[in-house]
Amino acid sequence: MSNSNNSKTYFDLQDLVRRNIRQLSPYRSARDDFQSGILLDANENSFGSPFGEDDGLNRYPTPHQDEVRERVAEFRSVQKDNIFVGVGSDESIDLLMRIFCQPGKDRILITPPTYGMYKVSAQIHDIEVDEVLLNSQYHLQPENVLDEVRADTKLLFLCSPNNPTGNDLKREDVEYLIREFDGIVVLDEAYVDFSERESLAPLVLKYPNLVILQTFSKAFGLAGIRLGMALASKEIIQLMAKVKAPYNLNKLTAQYALKAFENLDRVQENIQKIREERERLRVELNKIPTVNRIMPSDANFLLFKVDQAYEVYQQLAEEGIIVRYRGNEPLCKNSLRVTVGTREENDEFLATLKKVKGEG
Ligand SMILES: Cc1ncc(COP(=O)(O)O)c(C=O)c1O
Repeated sequence: MSNSNNSKTYFDLQDLVRRNIRQLSPYRSARDDFQSGILLDANENSFGSPFGEDDGLNRYPTPHQDEVRERVAEFRSVQKDNIFVGVGSDESIDLLMRIFCQPGKDRILITPPTYGMYKVSAQIHDIEVDEVLLNSQYHLQPENVLDEVRADTKLLFLCSPNNPTGNDLKREDVEYLIREFDGIVVLDEAYVDFSERESLAPLVLKYPNLVILQTFSKAFGLAGIRLGMALASKEIIQLMAKVKAPYNLNKLTAQYALKAFENLDRVQENIQKIREERERLRVELNKIPTVNRIMPSDANFLLFKVDQAYEVYQQLAEEGIIVRYRGNEPLCKNSLRVTVGTREENDEFLATLKKVKGEG
């Protein structure tokens, strides 16, 4: 049940949580009670790491990651209690399935073409996946989505900007679904910092059934450290903390994440360069006669249609240019997805694309 234009009038989170998770007593880690002193409690190696320095790597990381969560919260204008940090977005996706979906019974709803991991993760957990396609402009069809909801539909995954199409979903459609769907809406904002629109992160304070996923892998340029965040109500974050592995985030990842917040100018500069290159790439692709349709992008990649896309994809690879063939996805016939590279990489890509089609 929900009200027509404001936050939800009735929502019982515990109703949605699997019984075994509600009843779970979480593993208590060695450092939950005492963090300093002569630490002989966790079977660590007191003689240090192999690097011989006092780097602290012989000790387990903090299970709570308060410092990283504090910085992320500040960055997104929410509270630390609204932040979960994990090993990439993949960990959050996996945990949400485990918390809310009973294997062999519950379902999730996705809106293809979209990021493939939601479906894979559901399949790993033996959770049924229902699909409602985006429309031909790659926007949501909210009424069709609601029509597909069943009693056992626990999670609705939305992705904005969407992968592989690149466009932002309409905010009014997203908010409408958050209000009308009685399960959990997972809004994946992996690419939000490349978009002109603001993150919807503050909405987690308004909607108790909203989880927003973000990542350090894209705009922050730190795919190698595997850091993903979930933003949600304090109650949902507590559930995720209860189910996660005790020491999910390693010390090196946490150190680099904190360092990244000291270098936000550089992050911003790179975002700006990527946006400029995205526009240049779009203009240049548009000049190639075999390229038929280039989707407007709010992300760091472009989806475009090209004649004989699969052959082009293979020929590009033979020339050392690796893009993603997306032609098997619904509504993406003959489509390739190309990440915005550096100016030089983009020039190479464009030149090769012209060449493999015999146009250059
Ligand atoms: C929409 C979307 N979400 C999440 C991810 C993965 O994020 P992470 O590297 O944090 O696991 C990707 C990666 O391509 C993505 O496209």
